[in-house]
Parts: sequence; structure tokens; C-alpha cells
Amino acid sequence: MALDLVTLMSLFESPAPPNGSSPLGAPDLLRIKQLEEQASTLRNSVICAFNQLLDLKDLNTGVHSTRLAEWGMRVGQELGLEEAELQNLEVAALLHDIGKVGIPDAILRKPGRLEPEEYALMKKHPEYGWAVLRMLPGFERAALHILHHHESFDGKGYPAGLKNTEIPVVSRIVCVIDAFDAMVSSRPYRKGLPYQEAVRRLTEASGTQFDPVVVQSFLSFAEAEMSPVFAAAGTSVSSAL
Ligand SMILES: [Fe+2]
Repeated sequence: MALDLVTLMSLFESPAPPNGSSPLGAPDLLRIKQLEEQASTLRNSVICAFNQLLDLKDLNTGVHSTRLAEWGMRVGQELGLEEAELQNLEVAALLHDIGKVGIPDAILRKPGRLEPEEYALMKKHPEYGWAVLRMLPGFERAALHILHHHESFDGKGYPAGLKNTEIPVVSRIVCVIDAFDAMVSSRPYRKGLPYQEAVRRLTEASGTQFDPVVVQSFLSFAEAEMSPVFAAAGTSVSSAL
């Protein structure tokens, strides 16, 4: 069955009857429910498809990515984000680096330090991700959050140099969990940092690079949540990961 948003809109726009009773009958409500389910299924399919794309480019960080999305959601819940914003947060956490698909492999996989022009190109990935996701109805907000996931709390980030609460809260959350993920994940050319060292660096940059409220929220549950994950991966929180 095709997604019939025109029908859905027309049902919502029906004038209320004078006696104040619901303008929608049981068949209408059933139809709305069906359409909502279709929209949700379509949305999840898009997320899965893009995740597959990240896997194909080896841009997912394996065991961490889904868990980190969950932790991002947990921070979002603690900070009181509304349900719609939490859904955007999930998308932004999972797909924040989708724009790296547009970065040449020679730069993505370069083991050493990037040259200034290579780094300048790498810094384009939030804009690339935004440009793709904003084309999809329902993903516009998440696209904006992805655009700003490398802003810095003190205004020294990119692409817009936003600071403090100018940065969307979802982007501030993704920034912290993304940085943490990058620190503890091993790469072919370097070993991930031990958990405690990653925590020290997050704390050190709290208030400059990172939103201190987000860091505090994340660290309040991070260690307890992380032990089973790293144990399953054959490491421990206290050892090099
Ligand atoms: Fe990124």
C-alpha cells in the first residue's frame, strides 16, 4: 500500500462538528494508524539502508555504534528532550558521519596526520551528510543536527562556529558520544584509549569543546553501562581497549 500523506492530511484538516464530538470515525482512525505505521516502517528502512552504506564504507565503529546511539538517547532523556527530538537524536547518532561517504578513501584511511588541504576536505563531511539527509521528508531536523555535530561549545568548531546553546542540543549530545567513541575505538593504525583516559579527556574539554551538562550526564552512567560491552569484546574498561 502506498504512503498516502494527502489522505492523512485531509483527515486532520476536517472541520470539527458543532457538537464537539470527534470528527473522525473508526475507519478514519484505523487508516491514520495504518499510515503512521507505514511512515514509521519507511523511516526505519531508510535508517537501515544508510547504516548498510556506512558498513560498506567501513565507517561504522562495530560494537560501539548502536550502543552509543542508545547512550545518546539516554542523555537526551535525562536532559528532557521531547519524543520527536529523541527520534531525531537516534538518527543523528547513527548517521552523523554519513557524509564521509563523499570523502576520498585516501583521506579517510590515511594512517598519518592529514595535510591542511586534506583536513579541509574531511571537514566537509557534516555538510555532505546534511545535503543528503535533508532531501528526505521527515529527516530535515536530523540533517540539521548532523550539520552541526562538529561545532565546539566555545565556538571554535565547524562548519558554522556556533557556540553554547546556539548549537542544537542534539548536535551537542552527538558531539560528546562521537568523540568518546573515537577515543576508545581501535583503528588499524592505533589502539583505542583506555576508558579512564577517555573520561579524563572528556572532562578536560568539558566547557570548551563539549557541553558540560552533556558530559556530566553521559559520565553519570557510562562506566556501569560500558563494562559488559567491553567484556563482550574481550577487553575490560580498565585495560587498553
Ligand atoms: Fe563527524
